[in-house]
Amino acid sequence: MTAIVLIGFMGAGKTTISKKLAACLEQPVIDMDEVLVARLGCSINHYFTEFGEAAFREQETALLKEALSNDAIIATGGGVILQKENQKVLQDQFVIYLKGQAEILIDRIRQDKDNIRPLAVENSDQKLKMILATREKMYEKLAKLTIETTAKTPEEIVKEIIKQVG
Ligand code: S3P
Repeated sequence: MTAIVLIGFMGAGKTTISKKLAACLEQPVIDMDEVLVARLGCSINHYFTEFGEAAFREQETALLKEALSNDAIIATGGGVILQKENQKVLQDQFVIYLKGQAEILIDRIRQDKDNIRPLAVENSDQKLKMILATREKMYEKLAKLTIETTAKTPEEIVKEIIKQVG
């Protein structure tokens, strides 16, 4: 098996689905945000404030290459598709886009007090919707498989992925 890479906007459920999928497929899981928090020694929000988004993207880009050398289920951060370098690398991978409705995603992001997203702190709901709209084409372009997640439980989403993956 090669890597399975989950992409999608913040709040799409990449972390939750990656863990459940990894358990079902008996594969290791790499959650890029979790690895980065451990490596950076602080929250992503803190890192953005202290060193800026560009510095974070460099760390994220380096980790993506490293993560892809493993046969694992990889949960990416929502902005991983922004870097041209990452788009190139992801073209050849089995990428699954977890697609969700903007209102639901934004609501989830705002409710999640354990994981404060810097982009959610900096931007209004309207602006977040615009960011999603600009990223959506890239998520869809890179995906070998798009899963509509609205109104589905994590278990249903995992089942659908397994059915498609075969
Ligand atoms: C980001 C998404 C976050 C995290 C960082 C930037 C983004 O990950 O990597 O806050 O630009 O969309 P999640 O998608 O796991 O929230």
